[in-house]
Amino acid sequence: MSKFTPITPEVFNYLIQHQSNISKPHQELRNLSQTHRLGFMCTDPNQVSFMVLLAKLIRAEKIIEIGVFTGVTSLALAEALPKHGQLIACDNNLEFVNLGLAYWEAAGVKNKIDLRIKPALETLQELLDQGLENTFDLIYIDADKPSYIKYFDLAFKLIKKNGLILADNTLRAGQVADLNNQDNTVRHMRNFNTYIKNLAEDKNLNITFNLLPIGDGLMMVLKNEPL
Ligand SMILES: C[S@@+](CC[C@H](N)C(=O)[O-])C[C@H]1O[C@@H](n2cnc3c(N)ncnc32)[C@H](O)[C@@H]1O
Repeated sequence: MSKFTPITPEVFNYLIQHQSNISKPHQELRNLSQTHRLGFMCTDPNQVSFMVLLAKLIRAEKIIEIGVFTGVTSLALAEALPKHGQLIACDNNLEFVNLGLAYWEAAGVKNKIDLRIKPALETLQELLDQGLENTFDLIYIDADKPSYIKYFDLAFKLIKKNGLILADNTLRAGQVADLNNQDNTVRHMRNFNTYIKNLAEDKNLNITFNLLPIGDGLMMVLKNEPL
């Protein structure tokens, strides 16, 4: 018998039925986002549920999300933060983010979300210039694919020891494994995965990583505390 479970629509529904409940504003914002012409950009709901679990597990207090869209994942991660927690939400398209603001408010998390509307590379550099190196618990990369390696390099400076960097779409519906597939986005994701693998072989960096077959593929990188 095969050791992995193919995610058919039936299995997907089963997963959704067997995860923690989500708040009403979270569900309403997801429903709204899915009617958007770019609704496919929302992170897979099962993956969001897993990231919420991770945020709680590591008791995250400071999170960065790179690529917000309508803010479904921002809302869920902000709900996972303690009262004094903070999520820096980076996007360059206010029109998308505006759709979610009323739902952030309804969920009571708007005050935890610090929205930065500009190219995310600039926001990350500004955080470093403000001296915030090694201070974030969790950073989620989910914006333009050609910039993933640059996002990772800046995120790696901003993340704390024992903090997690997560990157979405790293399996690209499995297409990364087909080396004949030379689609640009697929190549960017393949290059990113190879980049992380090579970094992990560099002992000075001391990271542990796993490419998880959840949603569209979630690369998880832990910045290790030296043993
Ligand atoms: C896949 S969507 C993000 C989805 C979101 N994480 C979620 O779970 O719903 C990608 C977002 O990245 C934003 N984006 C693309 N390039 C960007 C850039 N250079 N700087 C900031 N945001 C960018 C887009 O405007 C879009 O909203």
